[in-house]
Parts: sequence; structure tokens; C-alpha cells
Amino acid sequence: MMQTVRPANSVSGVVLLPGDKSISHRYALLAAIAEGTSRFDHFASSRDCHSTLDCLRALGVEITEHEAAVVIHGRGLRGLRAPERILDAGNSGTTIRLLAGILAGQPFEAVLGGDDSLSRRPMGRIIRPLRMMGADIEAQKGELPPLKIRGGRLRSIRYRLPEASAQVKSCILLAGLYADGPTAVEETIATRDHTEIALREFGCEVRKTGDWIEVEPEPKLKARHISVPGDLSGAAFFLAAVALLPNSDLLLPGVGINHRRRELLDYLREAGLEIAIENESQQAGESRADLRVRFSPALVEGRLPPICGARTAALIDEIPVLTILGSQTAGGVEISDAGELRVKESDRISALVRNLRAMGALVEEKPDGLIVAGRQTLRGADIVTERDHRIAMAFGVAALIARGETKIHEAECAEISFPGFWQALERVCRR
Ligand code: S3P
Repeated sequence: MMQTVRPANSVSGVVLLPGDKSISHRYALLAAIAEGTSRFDHFASSRDCHSTLDCLRALGVEITEHEAAVVIHGRGLRGLRAPERILDAGNSGTTIRLLAGILAGQPFEAVLGGDDSLSRRPMGRIIRPLRMMGADIEAQKGELPPLKIRGGRLRSIRYRLPEASAQVKSCILLAGLYADGPTAVEETIATRDHTEIALREFGCEVRKTGDWIEVEPEPKLKARHISVPGDLSGAAFFLAAVALLPNSDLLLPGVGINHRRRELLDYLREAGLEIAIENESQQAGESRADLRVRFSPALVEGRLPPICGARTAALIDEIPVLTILGSQTAGGVEISDAGELRVKESDRISALVRNLRAMGALVEEKPDGLIVAGRQTLRGADIVTERDHRIAMAFGVAALIARGETKIHEAECAEISFPGFWQALERVCRR
């Protein structure tokens, strides 16, 4: 599907976000191996989370979906069944990497694959630690999906993460539930901690000592009834639209503001955007709040703070839309230490450079990031999304400030994380 997006004068109104994708994956996986029936309200409608649900069904888990809730009948830690077909993780890196951790502990063989994009993504980062734990894993060309996993009893390990990755950390912690002793992971750069929080909520003992996170094996996981907060990474596109368009004002109710994810809010506030965080509350260890955001001239008149080091890891999913924002601020933006962006759903550095150039912008590509000059006039163009949801949505925002119409190709990929994104965007645009 091609989505044509016209420039807008401002955005205003209320945006209801889908449930957080990262949290929904974790709740579904843990509920499947918990005892009892779990219910998750406002479970992510994203296609990625449905990939997780479908894989779990193929492993014998009974799941029913209601309007905005998912009910999962847990099979206990050792109750999953050998699948009769290949488990299809679709486009979802979180599905394949987290589920691989659980499969490594099962007494059967399973094959986990996905779409063309997922089949190009590096899995060596999970294969190495899982093999150290004793799992038998075969991959294509050494590290690409499909992965054939023959699990069983695992050895506990202490593992220092070579890359900042919440997916790898989570994979090892989940495998640790099936190990013969406590399993620990060290992360020197902090990444999202939804797995640690959810494990505790479901009844597992998780200890944190310095940079080490350690799980106790063989927990009795208990079913839970939890409501999932709105997805802050989805909110990012709307926050950026407000930052770009004078007289804009949006209310985003019930957004997850977990301390490891809210860097986006801190960063945009530091850059000068007016964001009010109201009605803060907590459920199951995850914080949420209503976000009220208003255009402030200070942001576009300044320079976005450079994105590097730990900040890059904390903003990894928001960098595409922050790059667009940077192109409109007086001082532009520089992004470094972002080599991970090259192995996301697409090579996001090259997708950003290519499409920004198509819109007439000056961009310098670096091996681990990019430098975008400021105050650039963007013109409507044909955007090649490479079916990457965050590229499609980021350029949907760029289109609002471009001269002329922008055509976003294969725009339906937005559904991977944000079904209804294009309608939600249109609804708030004032022209
Ligand atoms: C995610 C972790 C990040 C992020 C992805 C979701 C997660 O990936 O980019 O969108 O839910 O754990 P990495 O772990 O590869 O950095």
C-alpha cells in the first residue's frame, strides 16, 4: 500500500497509542510458561506481538483474543509441546531472540524462522551464550535464521554482554529459568529492563548487583492480570510532529514511562520541548502517565543534543524520527555509536540517508551514525521504506513539513508496531 502524506500546519487533539510492544512480548511469553490463566488488557495490537502469540499457540498454548485484551492459559515451566511446524517470528527480532531462550530449555526440537528481513538479522549474539549453556543450535551461514534449536537441561552461566541489547539480555535470562543454577548477565550499557521487571512480577527471583542481573532457575511463575501501558516508541512520532509544527498541542494518555525508556522525554525536554507528565501511576512495576506536549520555538531554534554512547542505546528505536527532527533545528544533529541501527528491521542508517537525500536534505553517512545539517527544506518525495515500520512512520512525520506530497511506499509496514498509525496521524493533522 502506498500512503500519500500532505504537509500540515499543525497537529492537535488526543492520540491513543497501542499497548507497548516490548512489554506485551514479555507478558505473553511469561504467561505461556506460568501456571494459571493470565489476562492482559491493552495488549499490543502490533503485528510483531501477534507473531509471538502465534508461535506460542504452535507450542500448545491456548490463547484467546478479545477486543483489547489477550487471555493466555499458562502451561507451566515445562508444559510447552513440540511444534508440528516451523515457528514463524515474522518480522520480529524480539520474538525470535526471546523465544529462543525459552526453547533452549525445552526437551524437544523446534525451528524458528521469519520473513526476509528477519532472515538477514544476526543471531550469533544469542547462539553463542545459548551454546555455552548447552543448547544445540543450527543456523544458516553460521548465524542467520531459521534456527533449529534442540533444547534440554541447561548449565548456568555468567555472561558479559558484548553489545547493548535488551533482546540478548532477555534471551539469556529466560534460558536461565531452565538452568542448573543462577544465571547472570552483565550489561555495561543499560538497556530496557522490562524482562527483569516482568520476571519479578510473575514470581521469579531476580537480583541486581552492580551491572550484573541474576535469575534463579525453576521458578513457579504465577498467572497475572495486568494492563499494558501505551507504547512510548509509538508516541515518539507524535511528539516529533508537535516539535516541528507551530501551534501544535497533543495529549497522549496512559503512555509507558519506564525509567529506561523515558530517555526520549528527558532528551526532548533538554532540547527545549514542553512536555508535561501528568497523572503518573504504576502497575506491575511499570510506570505510566499522560503526556501533554506543546510546540515550543526553543527546540527548532537550537541544536538537538548529540546522540552518542549510552544515550544512543536508550534512544535506539527513536533515532529515525529524531533524525528528521534534527534536520529542522538550527544546529542539526549528530548521531554516533549507532552501528546497531544497521542490523535492525532494515539498515536504518542507510535508509535514513537515502530517503533524506531523496527529500533534498544534506546528510553525511558514518559507519556508526550520521550527521544531519540543520534548517533544511524538505521536498515531497517517494520514500523507500524497505518495509521497516520505523522508517515508514519517521518519514510520515517528515512529510508533514515537506513541500508537496510525499509517497510512502509499502506503508502498511507501520502495522508491525502501530496498527492504525496513518489514520491516527491524519486525525490530528490540521491543514
Ligand atoms: C527490544 C530491544 C531493542 C529494540 C527493539 C525491541 C526489546 O533491540 O531495538 O525494538 O523489546 O527488547 P536490541 O535488543 O536488538 O537492541
